[in-house]
Amino acid sequence: MTAGPACGGVGRWQQRADVVVIGTGVAGLAAGLAAHRAGSKVVVLSKAGAGHGSTATFYAQGGLAVVLPDTDDSIESHVQDTLAAGGGLCEPEAVRSIVADGYRAVVRLVADGAHFDESTPGRWALTREGGHSRRRIIHAGGDATGAEVQRALDAAAATLDIRHGHAVLRILRDTNGVTGVLVRSNDGEGVIHAPSVILATGGLGHLYRATTNPEGSTGDGVALGLWAGADVADIEFVQFHPTMLYTGLHTGPGAGRRPLITEAIRGEGGRLIDARGDSVTAGVHPLGDLAPRDVVAAAIDAGLQRSGDECVFLDARGIADFGVRFPTVTASCRAAGIDPARQPIPVVPGAHYSCGGVVTDVSGRTRVAGLFAAGEVARTGMHGANRLASNSLLEGLVVGERAGGEAAAHAVAAGTVRARLPEAVAGAALDRARLQAAMSRHGSVVRTGPGLAALSDALDEATTVRVTSRRAFEDVALTLTARALAAAAAARTESRGCHHRADHTEADPAQAHSRTVRLCGDRVEAGARVEAPAVPAAVC
Ligand code: FAD
Ligand code: SIN
Repeated sequence: MTAGPACGGVGRWQQRADVVVIGTGVAGLAAGLAAHRAGSKVVVLSKAGAGHGSTATFYAQGGLAVVLPDTDDSIESHVQDTLAAGGGLCEPEAVRSIVADGYRAVVRLVADGAHFDESTPGRWALTREGGHSRRRIIHAGGDATGAEVQRALDAAAATLDIRHGHAVLRILRDTNGVTGVLVRSNDGEGVIHAPSVILATGGLGHLYRATTNPEGSTGDGVALGLWAGADVADIEFVQFHPTMLYTGLHTGPGAGRRPLITEAIRGEGGRLIDARGDSVTAGVHPLGDLAPRDVVAAAIDAGLQRSGDECVFLDARGIADFGVRFPTVTASCRAAGIDPARQPIPVVPGAHYSCGGVVTDVSGRTRVAGLFAAGEVARTGMHGANRLASNSLLEGLVVGERAGGEAAAHAVAAGTVRARLPEAVAGAALDRARLQAAMSRHGSVVRTGPGLAALSDALDEATTVRVTSRRAFEDVALTLTARALAAAAAARTESRGCHHRADHTEADPAQAHSRTVRLCGDRVEAGARVEAPAVPAAVC
């Protein structure tokens, strides 16, 4: 790849690639490796600096759901559990396709150097999490699965052209499709001309004041996709993990990432109790504490509303060798002055995962030619209204790899492209603290029509800013993503999966379908049914 002469905006640099991957988590690196192995010239970009903790992937705890051969598990059983958790909105064929490809993808990851915990030599240990009818979750380092997945992928991708500190500000396209990306790095703004771009930008937890997500999870990919003309769907379904460590700071100035207390603790016998020692989920669901996440999070929220307590507790005192099986959780608890072997752990639901995102097929294709998406930013139809635990690493691995292959093939077919250099980037942004306060108040576990209207009003107060820093870009992305979420949540006048409406408490069979959000000019439009994604985008 060669650096071209600066032209267009002041100080703009230009380069060229076949495939640009945005993101260095499980989806981005699986995609980058696949495109590289298919012969493409690949550039992988991350807005974060090099080092641990910049991806959600690194923080994954419980594990990776996969059906192993030679067990009493089956693809169909995993599919049925995923569909049951998804509240009627999963696309069964997408679920089947991704679940069925899981074991192959894990074997590839192991060939790339990943090690999973074993129960006996040569047999992976299997744990259980909410919504799974059986033990099918492999893990590493006890509760440090993501760190091991990230380590293995980082090592496998060490020879790729990976650039940290490069924030993508826009996908560039013409009427035929993608032509490249506009990037901000320490060298200023630049353009990478490329016919294929893969969004693997992760989630949007920082729409809220407290989240399990790393600081870069600011919804960039949803905004980039909308600006590029892609559809977004199921964005109203934000999964609140039932057990984020409660530190007593959620309403104070210390907004940001909070430690997760993995659901696998409940899989190993941990119990959710309130301040009086009573079960939080008794009588709520046949699976009790191991019900799907939306059910458990809603039960905790309802209990807290009734009691006025600040948190509930996860009692893990009965689990033998807790510190060995759950070293990550133990370290987080100890840092907060809690000994989980002796004390119940204080927990609250926390913003954790975006079930929706940029609409793709199961190979990561969006409706914009040359634009692909994989991982948490994508909406493949796998998760519907609520993701089944530990299905995210699985999806990122499988669809990331497929998207890399498709992007490489598209680059060959598209040939050389040349992006038009864009003007200076600007956008509407609301102050981040105000946005997070409004989202936490009105767009959280339980929503109402008037609350969502108040959220929209608050977002309408966004003012135009020039994007001269990563932070400014993230604020613009957060604001557009929040507008999309608010519009989708207002349009869904029912309760389903992770979307609970206090003013529409039942699921409405007439709304048992996914709806798109699309950007038309400056207007966010919500409500159309999801169509087959791999259709060239009409400019609206
Ligand atoms: P990420 O891993 O988040 O990577 C996103 C990348 O995109 C980063 O490199 C970031 O820098 C880059 N990026 C973002 N925006 C830009 C931009 N504008 N320009 C350039 N780069 C950009 N799932 C499971 O299946 N099992 C688990 O046990 C599990 N545990 C979890 C525990 C925690 C605490 C969290 C937060 C999540 C957990 N999840 C788990 C969910 C899962 O980890 C994530 O959904 C998944 O890892 C997301 O992977 P990704 O590749 O899509 O994104
Ligand atoms: C957890 O370990 O509880 C998180 C698992 C997930 O988000 O899939």
